[in-house]
Amino acid sequence: MPLITHIHAIEILDSRGNPSLEVDVIADDGSFGRAAVPSGASTGHAEALELRDGNQNRYNGKGVLQAVNNVNGTLYEALAGIEITDQIRIDRTLLEIDGTDNKSNLGANALLGVSLAAAKCGAKASDLPLFRYLGDDQTNILPVPLLNVINGGAHADNNLDVQEFMLVPAGFDTFKEALRAGTECFHALKKLLNEKGMSTGVGDEGGFAPELATARESLDLLMASIETAGFRPGDQVYVALDVAAGEVGTREGPPYRLPGEGLEDASSEQLTDWYASLLASYPLVSIEDGLGDEDWNGWKKLTEALGEKVQLVGDDLFVTNTDRIKRGLSEGIANAVLIKPNQIGTLSETLAAVKLASSSSYGVMISHRSGETCDTTISDLAVASGCGQIKAGSASRGERIAKYNRLLRIEESLGEMASFAGATTFRQAVGN
Ligand code: PGA
Ligand code: ZN
Repeated sequence: MPLITHIHAIEILDSRGNPSLEVDVIADDGSFGRAAVPSGASTGHAEALELRDGNQNRYNGKGVLQAVNNVNGTLYEALAGIEITDQIRIDRTLLEIDGTDNKSNLGANALLGVSLAAAKCGAKASDLPLFRYLGDDQTNILPVPLLNVINGGAHADNNLDVQEFMLVPAGFDTFKEALRAGTECFHALKKLLNEKGMSTGVGDEGGFAPELATARESLDLLMASIETAGFRPGDQVYVALDVAAGEVGTREGPPYRLPGEGLEDASSEQLTDWYASLLASYPLVSIEDGLGDEDWNGWKKLTEALGEKVQLVGDDLFVTNTDRIKRGLSEGIANAVLIKPNQIGTLSETLAAVKLASSSSYGVMISHRSGETCDTTISDLAVASGCGQIKAGSASRGERIAKYNRLLRIEESLGEMASFAGATTFRQAVGN
């Protein structure tokens, strides 16, 4: 098997104009892999550390030259000569050299760039597309896309407390048709906003960021956009929320402050009741980070109250970390896990988190970050894992569309063998 001969990182820019890393890995048979690292804005406090230079003379302190140097020096020296397809050894070496739990020594951004570029190089060396290399020769499930078409919270400058309002085109036979439906609803939404004289400028993830006041107003607009586009809400197209409640609560959780919703000093129970009322009014299939990162007791009650009716996704709660997911599993907290490779820092750990969640019948949603590049690794990861769900932003902005286009290509390449995950992926809400 080919051996690693070159590893080289440079500082590039992400979709927000902030520095990030791009890493190239080359093996001695000429195989080449390139990966770029994303970056969050509403990050969970337990995420692995993203190493930034802190030098205020460059990019407001957000440069990543130290992480670049770590790749080109220490990590290259440690990995040169290792078999390119031995991902486990590559990732284990990355972890050993860093030597910390949260990757604070060399930086999770440095580690992830190398880990993903190595996997892409390994796929090339094996003459396989990445989704096959990470999956197997039976891998064939295309995920339901969750399109974040109205942005609020930390991702937009409007007053919406909830961070993401997503369209979920799940009731179709193919990914291609689902994406078309979601995109047509996105265009219908733009028209509706125009008619109301509201802004159609887009936020970080390509969704609109109009001056809407409440979640209900936003959800009503989503319903109208689905109908205007000629689809059936609650049958073909559903909706989902990412509340990112860690951003509106304290470190421990309550009190939660959602002034736009009339929830000024809300307890976990009050938020849970609010979700129940939204569930009664809208075809909601998934609620992400309904409570804060450390509000485990609140999460338990939320899961008891609503876990049979809707997918409850832990993002900042679990941070793609198997220790935190294990706690969730043993305490019956949430019923799905959001997977973001840069929250944990290596591909092997990401795959372990997916495996742990799915083997316990928790849902799995693969996710982008609000700061992205045109890297499409998560699309392959979503197909490879067969998880059935991906959120990669709205139907606009090149770095979001790149992920959806990659899925279109994968579906095409699979031909008759391709299978679309469909609405039953959201089994709590849709049943099967
Ligand atoms: P982030 O947002 O990338 O800013 O963390 C995405 C999310 O919360 O799901
Ligand atoms: Zn989230």
